[in-house]
Amino acid sequence: MALLYLTPTWPTDVWTNAMRKLAPGMDIRVWPDRVGNIADIRYAVAWLPPANVLRGLPNLSVIFSLGAGVDAILSDPTLPEATPIVRVNEPDLTMRMTEYVVLHVLMQHRQQRRLDQNQKQKIWDSFPTHGASDLAVGIMGLGVMGSDSAMRLRDLGFKVAGWSRTRRRIEGVHCYAGDAEFDAFLHRTDILVSLLPHTPATSGIINRETIRKLSRKGPFGAPIIINAGRGKQQVEADILAALDSGELHAATLDVFETEPLPPESPLWTHPKVTVTPHCAADSDPETISAYVLRQIRRHEAGEPLENVVDRARGY
Ligand code: NAP
Ligand code: GLV
Repeated sequence: MALLYLTPTWPTDVWTNAMRKLAPGMDIRVWPDRVGNIADIRYAVAWLPPANVLRGLPNLSVIFSLGAGVDAILSDPTLPEATPIVRVNEPDLTMRMTEYVVLHVLMQHRQQRRLDQNQKQKIWDSFPTHGASDLAVGIMGLGVMGSDSAMRLRDLGFKVAGWSRTRRRIEGVHCYAGDAEFDAFLHRTDILVSLLPHTPATSGIINRETIRKLSRKGPFGAPIIINAGRGKQQVEADILAALDSGELHAATLDVFETEPLPPESPLWTHPKVTVTPHCAADSDPETISAYVLRQIRRHEAGEPLENVVDRARGY
């Protein structure tokens, strides 16, 4: 039984070393140079895998995504149809995302960028501030990540709502569901956070029309967006136009239509945009390797795999 690493954009050694520490006897292979006999490969761990590789593995029984999102794996048109895909659902990853969302909601709420600018210019301007309860945060995606962020923001005193495909129930969080309730969710939202997966249904969902439906009753007079879901959910030209017209107050973006964000993108230098390099929730090699190993051991023992992706839903 061999485990193949397919992580062309990541330093694979960090991952294989972490797995070797946990399972010294594991037969570890690395694409493309150390694949060996493909008939031995039973498991694959992947992040942005190249197309056509997975389908060429005749005895593959499970594909592990090294992240929570599986859009890059599902976008391979040659993906073997029956092989289960297991995604990451790990408290460490969730906590990292919650930290990011809370940090950026607070940064916008407390106007930290304005304070940073003032400090650079030695300006003592103690402008009036507002309370958390004056701001309505709306989280698109109330899954593992979205629900945790929602609860933490609720506990900080924000008015929190969430929107998901099917109805969720979270105490103290107004839960909207489905396309029919999308507009009502947007109308009450001052800070829109995306923690959606990228699927055909969520592609381009953060567009000019969506932005125009957001609340303008909040303390900043225009809404704010925070996208830590996937870049293909946002129409960057629409975000820039809305920022320049004043329809949008500010944006924090961790994910982009093209990654890495090209140097010529105006998002890099826009005064109302905070750019982070897809680091909202990094997969920690030791924690996630332990998670993968746990799943392999379950599978070998004939127990069901956890967090198997529903291919029909796309996440
Ligand atoms: P999850 O548990 O699968 O939750 C996904 C949520 O999105 C669910 O609430 C789901 O609704 C909702 N949803 C999906 N399609 C929808 C649609 N068409 N309309 C409305 N709601 C929809 O996923 P997760 O673990 O929270 O992760 C979410 C995403 O975060 C990942 O897919 C990934 O793209 C992103 N992520 C980014 C980073 C980063 O560093 N930037 C790190 C980790 C994850 P239901 O509840 O009805 O199923
Ligand atoms: C990161 O983007 C992930 O999907 O875990």
